[in-house]
Amino acid sequence: MSRVFVLNGVNLGTLGTRRPEVYGKLTLDDMEKLLRNEFPNVDLEFRQTDFEGEMVSFVGEAAASDGLIINPGAWTHYSYALHDALEAADVPKVEVHLSNIHTREEWRRVSVISPAVDAVVAGMGPRGYVAAVGYVLMRGAGRGQGPK
Ligand code: DQA
Repeated sequence: MSRVFVLNGVNLGTLGTRRPEVYGKLTLDDMEKLLRNEFPNVDLEFRQTDFEGEMVSFVGEAAASDGLIINPGAWTHYSYALHDALEAADVPKVEVHLSNIHTREEWRRVSVISPAVDAVVAGMGPRGYVAAVGYVLMRGAGRGQGPK
């Protein structure tokens, strides 16, 4: 059974009530149910933290799995520590954003994380998480190695 980490960073524990017009009404628990329902045969490891160092540890743990998807929240825009942790994790990695960060404030359009991941999904809401896990599984099956 494939083991895939689903990592949610700072402030994502408040999904459902935090700016629902931007991030939707699903809570993180709802998201977990959605993904478990979509991928019943995958060992999904859900983690959320508001502490950057803890997230770095989670990424380190995920480096021993079949891959990870990560929504780093605001860390996306300035955490070189997270960039370096992701760069060191030699597994399929996808950065996910519920909103389309490229249509928002100037500072959100920059991701310092993107150069350290294989793919980026933004603006698809919860379906972006489903697409991202699907991509990780496809990579694990040895198909669609991507442009690298
Ligand atoms: C986010 C976008 C970030 O800019 C923001 O800080 C978040 C959520 C998204 O999922 O759209 O916390 O990553």
